[in-house]
Amino acid sequence: MNVRIYKDAQAIGTAAAALFAAQVIDKPNCVLGLATGSTPIPTYKKMAEMYREGAVDFSGVTTFNLDEYVGLDHDHDQSYYYFMMENLFKHINVPHDRIHVLSGTAADVEAECGHYEDKIKAAGGIDLQILGIGRNGHIAFNEPAADFAPATHIVELTESTIEANKRFFASADDVPRRALTMGIGSIMKARSIVIIATGSDKAEAVRDMVKGPISPSCPASILQAHPDTVVMVDEAAGALL
Ligand code: GLP
Repeated sequence: MNVRIYKDAQAIGTAAAALFAAQVIDKPNCVLGLATGSTPIPTYKKMAEMYREGAVDFSGVTTFNLDEYVGLDHDHDQSYYYFMMENLFKHINVPHDRIHVLSGTAADVEAECGHYEDKIKAAGGIDLQILGIGRNGHIAFNEPAADFAPATHIVELTESTIEANKRFFASADDVPRRALTMGIGSIMKARSIVIIATGSDKAEAVRDMVKGPISPSCPASILQAHPDTVVMVDEAAGALL
């Protein structure tokens, strides 16, 4: 793991967006793995800015998002599809048919998970994956568990995640209890990974990810075993390193 500490969220956004730009310039038909949450927003803003300035062309790019809530359709303003449209896809030129977000309203969500794995494989695998981290060390919606999940699957969200994500909903009761998520195995197949974290409420999760044992009780700790992972944190999130 290559750990880098930055001054603030803005500096991380600039650095992470530069990694994406380098990836797209190096391989214009690359496959990008994208994440939701508040942490990647400065990265996506910077990517949009670079596109507007003509520095990066996303027209050959394919994208796969990490996860989606079960039961929210793409038009729901708390769905991750909607989030991606608003925060990134409306502002850059990835062709619509190359954007992939799991469908939380598929008639058969189990089959949806299998199809998603097939589509990632058919696209040639993910070149660069961005991740945030949950306060309990989750990546995507891979919650602390007894084992690392190999592939895309359905999860029951933990109380801590429901609590953390309720800020986007009218109340905690409105947060979906289940989600579809790429597995730890799917994420580990990405050729390069950048994981970003800001703020003191992520400090313990960042410490456990970087310094703790590799254990499914901190799903992000598996990234210690990935050959090309950059960890970008601000001073508050990196305070316990
Ligand atoms: C959600 C997402 C994760 C994200 C995490 C942290 O649960 N499924 O992919 O990393 O929250 O979000 P934030 O960046 O808002 O702290």
